[in-house]
Amino acid sequence: YKYDPLILVGFIDEIIEQIYARYGMLHQKAQMRELESDRDRIASKLETNQQYLSNILHASDSAIMVIDENENIVAWNKGAEKIFGYTEEEILNKKSHVLLPDNSRFKNELKYSQDETKKNGYVRIFDTERKTKDGNILTVQLNVTKLPDKDGNYAGRSVIIKDTTEVKKLQQQIDQSEKLAVIGQVAAGVAHEIGNPLASISSIVQLLQRQLKDDFVSEQLSTIKENIDRITRIVRELVDFSRPPSYEKSFIQITDVIKTALGIVKYDKRVRKVNFETQLDPDVPRLNIVPDQLLQVFVNILINALDAIHGNGTINVKSYHDNFNVMVEITDNGTGMNEETIEKIFDPFFSTKEVGKGTGLGLSVSYGIIKKMNGSIEVKSKLNEGSTFT
Ligand SMILES: Nc1ncnc2c1ncn2[C@@H]1O[C@H](COP(=O)(O)OP(=O)(O)OP(=O)(O)O)[C@@H](O)[C@H]1O
Ligand SMILES: [Mg+2]
Repeated sequence: YKYDPLILVGFIDEIIEQIYARYGMLHQKAQMRELESDRDRIASKLETNQQYLSNILHASDSAIMVIDENENIVAWNKGAEKIFGYTEEEILNKKSHVLLPDNSRFKNELKYSQDETKKNGYVRIFDTERKTKDGNILTVQLNVTKLPDKDGNYAGRSVIIKDTTEVKKLQQQIDQSEKLAVIGQVAAGVAHEIGNPLASISSIVQLLQRQLKDDFVSEQLSTIKENIDRITRIVRELVDFSRPPSYEKSFIQITDVIKTALGIVKYDKRVRKVNFETQLDPDVPRLNIVPDQLLQVFVNILINALDAIHGNGTINVKSYHDNFNVMVEITDNGTGMNEETIEKIFDPFFSTKEVGKGTGLGLSVSYGIIKKMNGSIEVKSKLNEGSTFT
């Protein structure tokens, strides 16, 4: 039996080849396994990233939404739901203009924000307005960013909306306080100048009244006296307004002050057909305030309410509290006010009442008093429906 060396070489060759093949296969398998684990790692990383993004998206207090190139809303986060009141289900695939207040100015703004994002990729708009599901108007700030498709063309935009209504309101209150301070200084001077001559006229009239027996003249004198008293009252209000007297503070239950105020206005001859409804919180925490001033505020607001219902309607007074604040709501179903009026009611001497009926100081004085107590006074009103002062 003889080995043919050639066959042997061929045989060995074959074995080596097979070993290589086997080894290659093993190697491939190992590579595959590595690839697979890479793939899993990348996938899980991707998922984590996605989780991060969606957490950020949903946890954000700002409203974040995506609007596609056909103006449909295609993404909507929890912040948007909180701010606007629409759930994701309700809003998705609705047109973006459902969020615009009804005014052509906002159509122009929409156009501007589309054009600007297409052109520059980005636009910010401050102090504009948007409408919630309930129809409330919010002051907002917008950050709009272009979303490109794979070729870089405009495919829609993402919009981040911050609700700055509260900030705006605070700003307005600061403006109002400043305005009052300036007017207060002027008023103090004027009131002082008027006050003294007035006092002297008043005492002369009283003197004459006592001496005169003529009916006609004494009737005229009473009219003069009434008018002087009226002017004196206004002047006193003016002085109070500019320099609210610092009466003693005491710990009182606001409910008691409300009851006193109601007692006072119920004597008004106009109240015969008025229906007073009260829901008073018996457990409000006591407040350290000047009771007379607060009383003045409630009386002012109640009298305004009486004027608004023209002696025929309902006035609702409600008090309640939470951990930080005591709230009092006075609601009437009277004439209500339009936007223009609402903006001016806290201005001194703003009055829509006939000359002689209102001086327009009631609410501005009340505003000053409440501010001094670190409180706030707000109004909601609709024309022909009524008003609520809180
Ligand atoms: N409850 C209300 N309903 C409708 N309008 C109101 C109400 N309260 C206030 N207003 C409007 O606000 C204006 C200003 O009120 P404010 O109390 O400051 O002055 P006034 O009532 O006109 O005069 P006064 O100094 O005698 O109080 C009113 O003239 C009225 O137009
Ligand atoms: Mg008034």
